[in-house]
Amino acid sequence: MTHSSPAPAGATRRTVVATAGAASLAAVLAACGGSGGEKKPDTSQPAPEAEGSGTAGSTAGASGKPNADEALARTADIPVGGGKVFPERKVVVTQPAKGQFKAFSAVCTHQGCLVKEVANGTIACPCHNSTFSVTDGSVRGGPATKPLPPERISVSGDSLTLG
Ligand code: FES
Repeated sequence: MTHSSPAPAGATRRTVVATAGAASLAAVLAACGGSGGEKKPDTSQPAPEAEGSGTAGSTAGASGKPNADEALARTADIPVGGGKVFPERKVVVTQPAKGQFKAFSAVCTHQGCLVKEVANGTIACPCHNSTFSVTDGSVRGGPATKPLPPERISVSGDSLTLG
């Protein structure tokens, strides 16, 4: 009597996944090699001495700003009851009454525009139409709420000098 034995179990199967593609990677690297041979020099450096906006240094005295001792204007340049704006000095000079000279910052206290016109007893800012008194710089109208700060001015003969 023979018994047929069952088929032996345990035939394991293994799947082997082969990774391919390593060869193509090398080809890509080689292709990149020739393109970037040129390097531009970096010219976007900041200027070494940008502008020392008003700092008094003995090494940076390259006469960049107007001479403070120089006369700003002649008295005859400033109309009585009016004034004149000096944008490069950021100052406005007025003559509310004959022989009475005043100076104020020309930087509007609203948002910092330079005031532009002096007419009808007021100094006007072109940005949002604030107006200031030629007599004391106080606000006459517009969105500004603070007066123009006074500047020192001196009269010598017929010339006007700041400071
Ligand atoms: Fe002068 Fe606004 S900045 S009115």
